[in-house]
Amino acid sequence: MPQVKNWQLNREMEYAYQENRPQRQFAAVFNLNRCIGCQTCTMACKSTWTFSPGQEYMWWNNVESKPYGGFPFGWDVKLLEMLGEQPWNGSTYEGKTVFEAREPAKQTASGMIALGFLPGDEDWRHPNIYEDTSKGHNPKGESLPEHQNWGFYLPRICNHCTYPACLAACPRKAIYKRQEDGIVLIDQSRCRGYRKCMEACPYKKPMYRGTTATSEKCVGCYPRIEQGQATRCIATCIGKIRLFGFINDPASPVHYLVHKAKVALPLYPQFGTEPNIYYIPPRWVPRDYLAQMFGPGVEPAIASYTQADKELLGVLQLFGATDRIIHSYKIDGEEAVGMDEKGVEVVRTAINEKVQVRPADRHNIT
Ligand code: SF4
Ligand code: SF4
Ligand code: F3S
Repeated sequence: MPQVKNWQLNREMEYAYQENRPQRQFAAVFNLNRCIGCQTCTMACKSTWTFSPGQEYMWWNNVESKPYGGFPFGWDVKLLEMLGEQPWNGSTYEGKTVFEAREPAKQTASGMIALGFLPGDEDWRHPNIYEDTSKGHNPKGESLPEHQNWGFYLPRICNHCTYPACLAACPRKAIYKRQEDGIVLIDQSRCRGYRKCMEACPYKKPMYRGTTATSEKCVGCYPRIEQGQATRCIATCIGKIRLFGFINDPASPVHYLVHKAKVALPLYPQFGTEPNIYYIPPRWVPRDYLAQMFGPGVEPAIASYTQADKELLGVLQLFGATDRIIHSYKIDGEEAVGMDEKGVEVVRTAINEKVQVRPADRHNIT
């Protein structure tokens, strides 16, 4: 298998095809400190793309309550167990990715390109199982800032991976990655429903449709991206936790958050697909849990987030401030400004929102 560079692992790794990065790469940052689990993103996606017969169980965007929830059920826990030890040496991953772990003993009958499994029907039945179920008293007695009881919402969409396991696994070569924006799509006219994509995707984002005998997945709202608009799930987010951008453009605020401020981290980077949805980890969650989920950058990311400088505060204010794609930004005095592809201003917002104090004679106290 060819060797490709995976920057999230700080090393080369095996992949089915040669490295072929797109001109622009679809990416987003989700701030988990802000997600309120309202599922507006989920319904925005559903009412746009998956409202037809055969798509009932499809939730291309889902929000699961961690640590217990998951859609399909146990998607991550099962794969983590199959993968075994996942050691990091500093920023270098020394364990195996899903592509490297496909030794014969763990292969499925048909000889998978990646370690994986096909979820059962039951696993798809309860999209929001364990909603709001927190982890109870922690016997290790961890103290603040990690709470005794904790939980958080994890919104998930397809990661439009740089090295998609779904694409690598399809025997029909029905899955392709667009050069112009890195969006990964399933060609419905080529797909024959083999479901190798479902088996190989570590995030379990391709979903089978019985009425067409093909698989479907998040299409990255490509018609909106082509018009300079953020995706539906990002544009509708009530908590303003999401920011869209092209990660390989150094002027993009998403590039800044991931590569400069280093506050946003990939989800399970050890799987090896180089996912392109990045998360600002929640501050109150035990660090060992977060480190398994987001890799070794957790402590510096939380430190950077909690001691945010003016530039970072400004970029954080751009989250959910417009439905246009922000290609570049600047800090202008006490305001953060976002620009479109042509450098035209599309949004301007105060870095520190003004505090309005209710006059003493208007206090609502009897
Ligand atoms: Fe493919 Fe899964 Fe990556 Fe999406 S998250 S591109 S479905 S491997
Ligand atoms: Fe759905 Fe579009 Fe979000 Fe994908 S990007 S989860 S298709 S709303
Ligand atoms: Fe290929 Fe997945 Fe269809 S493996 S044939 S894209 S169901």
